[in-house]
Amino acid sequence: MTPDSRTVLVTGGAGYIGAHAALALAERGYRPLVLDNLSKGHREPIARALGTPVIQADTRDRAALDAIFARERIDAVMHFAAFIEVGESVADPLRYYENNVHGTVTLLQAMQAAGVSRFVFSSTCATYGVPEVVPIPEDHPQNPLNPYGRSKLVVEKILAECETAWRLRSVIFRYFNAAGAHPSGLLGEDHDPETHLIPLVLSAALGKRPSIRIFGEDYDTPDGTCIRDYIHVSDLADAHVLGIEYLLGDGASTAVNLGNGRGFSVKEVIAAATRVTGRPIDVEKAERRPGDSPVLVGSSARARKLLGWAPRYPDLETILAHAWAWHQRKA
Ligand SMILES: NC(=O)c1ccc[n+]([C@@H]2O[C@H](COP(=O)([O-])OP(=O)(O)OC[C@H]3O[C@@H](n4cnc5c(N)ncnc54)[C@H](O)[C@@H]3O)[C@@H](O)[C@H]2O)c1
Repeated sequence: MTPDSRTVLVTGGAGYIGAHAALALAERGYRPLVLDNLSKGHREPIARALGTPVIQADTRDRAALDAIFARERIDAVMHFAAFIEVGESVADPLRYYENNVHGTVTLLQAMQAAGVSRFVFSSTCATYGVPEVVPIPEDHPQNPLNPYGRSKLVVEKILAECETAWRLRSVIFRYFNAAGAHPSGLLGEDHDPETHLIPLVLSAALGKRPSIRIFGEDYDTPDGTCIRDYIHVSDLADAHVLGIEYLLGDGASTAVNLGNGRGFSVKEVIAAATRVTGRPIDVEKAERRPGDSPVLVGSSARARKLLGWAPRYPDLETILAHAWAWHQRKA
């Protein structure tokens, strides 16, 4: 079968990463069906990019899901829909389990009933907790530090149980820090509230916020600030298409890190953003945030070997330049 006969349901497809993945699927000849409850996502950019409407529905609404599975011949599901803020998950854990776990369970029930058994899941490096080894491999112990990370780990366990029970096959992607924007400028990162470093730094460069806060300068890292692994959102999207191809080709269930394998400190990101934007960025010192690991960098060896994935935009300045183009356009 050619890809264009393949339909992929993309939950959370009006969000940041899901929209990029939906567009990447369309660019490779698949038929993405974007489902989103629009609690956080944006209907217009992805509907315009795909030329098809967003299906407004909630992953917790079994009747709505059943109607979609009955109407469409869906070959696989990519599941991005979730709440994503660590701090909010600490303040309101039940809201996170309700959406991230119950929403996924309802989706899996609808898939099982419809006989759809290929699933690509957005998990996170936050399932690892404090790393014992860096770069972190997929078989690293998983001890999440917050309800957000735990909600994702619970789903990972459920997927393994569904495989045993009804042969669900899944690719679990554990992302490191998604960043950047579509090189065309059609799509980009637009969270509200925004908690991610790169969009915050760029909005400080645009003068939309007075400064950027650095949470802790006394970590055991070369410049004292936290180190993270930034991965271009288009590289994430490419990996998802490869994940679908892998499952359609009868690949076995697996978990795969998606990162660049290289870390940058908060101060390095700010310095690079100053170079890319040509604007001064004021910084403000703040206390460490509880639960922040000093270093989170992933090994991408499995993604490269198993899926043949290689990032097209591994360079931090390119990631920042694409994000900057998007932010200026949006401003
Ligand atoms: N952004 C990152 O750096 C990062 C890192 C690791 C993992 N992830 C995971 O990737 C996925 C996508 O993240 P993102 O940054 O694109 O977030 P996002 O908030 O931009 O996208 C999530 C989308 O899901 C939708 N949604 C939420 N609950 C829903 C529900 N019950 N039914 C239907 N739609 C629902 C929202 O409206 C939103 O459009 C999430 O599962 C997140 O946990 C993201």
